[in-house]
Amino acid sequence: MNETILDEYSFLVSETDSKGIINFANDDFCKIAGYTIDELVGQPHSMVRHRDMPKAAFKSLWDTVQRGEIWTGYVKNATKSGGYYWVYATVYPFETCDGGKGYLSCRRKPSRAEIEEHEALYKVWKLQE
Ligand SMILES: Cc1cc2nc3c(=O)[nH]c(=O)nc-3n(C[C@H](O)[C@H](O)[C@H](O)COP(=O)(O)O)c2cc1C
Repeated sequence: MNETILDEYSFLVSETDSKGIINFANDDFCKIAGYTIDELVGQPHSMVRHRDMPKAAFKSLWDTVQRGEIWTGYVKNATKSGGYYWVYATVYPFETCDGGKGYLSCRRKPSRAEIEEHEALYKVWKLQE
């Protein structure tokens, strides 16, 4: 399938509520994923999930941020048109103004070597599911 390769300056940001429902996405996120902001807000973040991503990666993400810690990792996401793109993501837990929990993800371009390493690693994790 069609890979979109991020450029060096791409910075994809999204914010979710405590359940992973998208509250905000920046222009870079919308552009690369192929959605308008209105299509994203109110949807679960799994709407950009790619089928090659193993469950264990997202379990690690959620376990970490729910403990109040920062998660970093490599994610392959699906685009609206059926393509994909790889990111290196940093996910931050934060407290919303009304005292609830929110999560913020900031993503940049991974290197080709990092993509290849995680493409192979996630294949192994998938086989273990
Ligand atoms: C701030 C934040 C950003 C996330 N970003 C992504 C993402 O870019 N792609 C993705 O597939 N899941 C992302 N997730 C994880 C999803 O919430 C979800 O756990 C994952 O897509 C697996 O979907 P499932 O639990 O329905 O199987 C993010 C979660 C949070 C809290």
